[in-house]
Order: sequence, then C-alpha cells, then structure tokens
Amino acid sequence: MSLFLIFSCLILCAGKSMGACPIEMGPSKVVVSYGGSFSANCSSLTHDTIGMGWESQHGGVELTLGVTTLPFKIDKVNDFIISPSCYIYRQDDSQCIEKLPVTVYQLPTRVYLHEPSSLTMLEGQQYGLKCEIFDVAPAKNLSVLWYKGNKKINTASSSESSLKPVKVLSEMSFTASREDDSAQIWCEAQLNLWSAEQKLPSNKSNSYKLTVLSAPAFTMPENETVTLQALKNLTLNCTATGNPSPKYRWQLPHASQEMDEDLTQSILSPSFVLPGHYACTASNSQGSSTKYFNVIKDPGNQATLAAIIGVFAALGAVLFIIGVLLVKSDGTFSCNKGSYQPASSRPV
Ligand SMILES: *[C@@H]1O[C@H](CO)[C@@H](O)[C@H](O)[C@H]1NC(C)=O
Ligand SMILES: *[C@@H]1O[C@H](CO)[C@@H](O)[C@H](O)[C@H]1NC(C)=O
Ligand SMILES: *[C@@H]1O[C@H](CO)[C@@H](O)[C@H](O)[C@H]1NC(C)=O
Repeated sequence: MSLFLIFSCLILCAGKSMGACPIEMGPSKVVVSYGGSFSANCSSLTHDTIGMGWESQHGGVELTLGVTTLPFKIDKVNDFIISPSCYIYRQDDSQCIEKLPVTVYQLPTRVYLHEPSSLTMLEGQQYGLKCEIFDVAPAKNLSVLWYKGNKKINTASSSESSLKPVKVLSEMSFTASREDDSAQIWCEAQLNLWSAEQKLPSNKSNSYKLTVLSAPAFTMPENETVTLQALKNLTLNCTATGNPSPKYRWQLPHASQEMDEDLTQSILSPSFVLPGHYACTASNSQGSSTKYFNVIKDPGNQATLAAIIGVFAALGAVLFIIGVLLVKSDGTFSCNKGSYQPASSRPV
C-alpha cells in the first residue's frame, strides 16, 4: 500500500516538474570552476506568461513582467553548492519553478604519490601504493589513473559523494615483475565532467623509479640438443635476464677443452668442438639456473658422408678397372715389346 503511494507520488511529482513548467534553460546545465563565472538564459515556452524571475542564494533576479527570456549571471562562484531556479507566473495565476543544474569543480591542489615501502622490490612480491589527491571537487567525478612507464595500469574512481573539496586516497596493490625494473611509477588525477569546453587538464603526481630484483631466466629456456655440422661453428646461447646482471659459468664435456675457452661468456663458441653434454649456469644474488646443451654428431651428415665415400669408392673401382685394362693392354704391349727385344736379342 505504502509502496503504491510512493509510486503514484513519483509518477505525479515527475509529471508535475517535467510537464507543468514550460521552461527551457540555455545552457541546460552548467559546469563552472570555483571562482569562475557563468550565465544562463531561462526562456518561457508559453504565450500566457505574465512574468519570470530567478531564485538563488547568491543573488537572484526579481520578478520581471512582460518578458519571455530572462538571463542570470554569477560573476564569481564562491560556493560549491549552488542551485539557481527559474520561475514563471502565468495568466491563470499558477506559477512553476525549475532548477538549473550547476556543477562547481575544483582541480586538485596537489597529487602526491607516497614512497613505496621499498623502492627495491623483489619479483613476484606484492607492494601497496598510495596516491593522495588534495582538495578536489566533486570527488565522485574523479578518476585516479595509475601509470607504469607510459602504460596505464589501473583506473580507480572515488565513492566520496561530497560536493565540497575533499582529500581522496587511492590505494593500489602492485605485483613486481622483472619487466618493471627501472620503470617510473606515478598517479594522475582526472576530473571527468560534462563540459562544452575541452577535457580538463589532469594533475600528475611525483614519480618513483622502481628497481626489481629477479633471478636469472634464460631467454631461450628449453634445454637444447644441438647437432654438430661439418664446417660450421658451434654457438651455444645461454643468455639470461635478471637483476643484478647474471654471471655465467660453462662446463664442457672434456676438461681439456676448458683450457682454451672463456667460460664466463653468455654465448659460447668453442674453438675445438666435441660432442657431449655442455652446461651453463647463470647466477646472481637472487638465484641461479642451469641450462643443458646436448651436442651430437649429425647422423644425416654421416649418411651423406657415407654416400659420398660410396660414390668415390665406386668411382675408384671403375677407375681401377679401367686402369687395370689400360695397364693390361699397355703391359701386354710392353711385355710384347720386352719379350720381343730379348727374343730378338736372344737369337743374336
Ligand atoms: C542569452 O540570450 C542572449 C540574447 O539572446 C544571448 O546573447 C546570450 O548569449 C545568451 N546566453 C547564454 C548563456 O546562452
Ligand atoms: C559526474 O559523474 C557522474 C557519474 O558518476 C555523471 O553522471 C555526471 O554527469 C558527472 N557530472 C558532470 C558535471 O559531468
Ligand atoms: C633440462 O635438463 C635438466 C637435466 O636433465 C632438467 O633437470 C631440467 O628440468 C631441464 N629443463 C628444461 C627446461 O627442460
């Protein structure tokens, strides 16, 4: 029953304020900065208007007879809550009134990012960040933007409903990742107001440069099986990211190899390559990690080699046979010749 009453009142009241007052405001709503000025026109849309006026706590406009448009102006807005209203008198002695919605704003006087509990962070750990925005109005139209480098990482809004300037605290929890090392972090306050003018300028906080410590992680993390190829240099890549910069240590399959190499490089190009298990350990203060390379002979290459050898062997056999044939004919000839000479000499 009471719900029904509320409903009928809502419908009636809405109908009354919208339908009953034939007024047009120009502009229909106002956004003005504290200390600024604005003006608006109230126009009556009926022909039976006797007079109109403006009501306001900050100096209205007296009932003015015989006009259908009446301007209103405030030269210096010195309150955060102002609600001027325009009213008309009609020939049937009725009057109606309508509010002009006015939003008074104030850009923050200061936007301050608190220093994180630790500027040297550990990868994967959570850190709380606090941004304080001072003397902003209206707070419900404030967005707090969080930036890391030039990337926006979060947007927060305030639930504060005060129309007067307030201090807004925005908190964000942040998980440090290795990519965040050396990134600048800051917050920004932006008032989002409907306004004919361009977007209001945002206010940036101070910023902090982050340091994120992280254990070595290989840029190519999988263990590798590398095939030795004839006439090609072997290159083993153990490059890892991490902070502080990782140090490297290689282990080669044969101790004799280790004499000639610099075993502290991230990329190893052994001058004397042998198949076997190579290992590289990258380490820094945050941890260490080992990657394995299994260097094997190319079985495919050996087959090719075998094929080449086979071809050469076959060729050799053919050459040999040809050679034997040649030698044989030549030999026969020379043998004949030889046998001829002794034969000729023998009878002598
Ligand atoms: C109010 O009306 C006058 C006369 O038509 C016009 O010059 C003025 O620009 C109007 N003001 C606003 C705020 O629209
Ligand atoms: C303030 O924000 C509300 C939404 O939170 C929006 O409806 C309103 O139009 C904004 N005020 C102005 C003056 O733009
Ligand atoms: C690499 O090989 C080592 C030893 O065989 C093994 O412990 C490790 O899990 C392997 N790493 C990857 C990424 O497969």
